[in-house]
Amino acid sequence: MSEILELEDITKTFGGIIALDGFEGSVAADDITGLIGPNGAGKTTLFNVITGALDPDSGTVRFQGEDVTRERAHKICRKGIARTFQTPKPIRSLTVEKNLRVAHRFGGSDSTLDEEELYQRTLEFFDLGKKQNVRTENLQLIEQKQVDVARALMSAPTLLLLDEIMAGLTPTEKIDMCETIKQLNSEFDIAVLLIEHDLKRMRSISDTIIAMNNGRHLLTGSPTEVLEDDGLQEAYIGK
Ligand SMILES: Nc1ncnc2c1ncn2[C@@H]1O[C@H](COP(=O)(O)OP(=O)(O)OP(=O)(O)O)[C@@H](O)[C@H]1O
Ligand SMILES: [Mg+2]
Repeated sequence: MSEILELEDITKTFGGIIALDGFEGSVAADDITGLIGPNGAGKTTLFNVITGALDPDSGTVRFQGEDVTRERAHKICRKGIARTFQTPKPIRSLTVEKNLRVAHRFGGSDSTLDEEELYQRTLEFFDLGKKQNVRTENLQLIEQKQVDVARALMSAPTLLLLDEIMAGLTPTEKIDMCETIKQLNSEFDIAVLLIEHDLKRMRSISDTIIAMNNGRHLLTGSPTEVLEDDGLQEAYIGK
């Protein structure tokens, strides 16, 4: 099993706040990996460091064996890491089509697929053909979330980071979103690192779960190993 992403001793502080405190972890190339931890654990900060939105104070981010620490965000995207944000980022006044094309132009891609192929493939995957001329502000929440993921796919990533993509969805919509993520992983060979507070969904979707707290790695293992660990339950309940 090869590692697509390796994180070594990552520290990030904001003034006196230690958001990441020597975080260590890795993501396997074939897996859906869940990242869990209480509010303020440092999960989003970790995504920001991985994607180049923030520079760490120290530590190394290695993607496909290459040191990408402190690379610019668009360069990291071009290398194959795409993300969604905890607060959805589609441009509300633009149509679905414009949103996807803008995402491609910003992120670019080193893939052999050109913009048109990526656009058609992504539209078809999400069955968004009939909505391509609709402004995203007029879409339902689930469709807006799909557009968020679709935007990330427009750079043909090999690693997709999803920050609470299921927040606000109904239980049925969450199940559908999980199916979408599983398909992306199996059909498009995309490794997924997923932040999610709904541990029931996390158990059903993840091959591996990484638990963190206070900016540190706590535990990595199968969903059962991690979610039934006594120390982990303390980290949640004792917060
Ligand atoms: N830009 C920032 N400036 C100052 N402090 C920040 C900044 N970003 C994050 N923090 C702090 O760093 C810590 C980790 O925050 P982070 O957003 O990474 O947590 P999280 O695990 O994503 O939490 P949640 O589950 O609530 O989204 C928190 O104490 C937060 O207040
Ligand atoms: Mg967060």
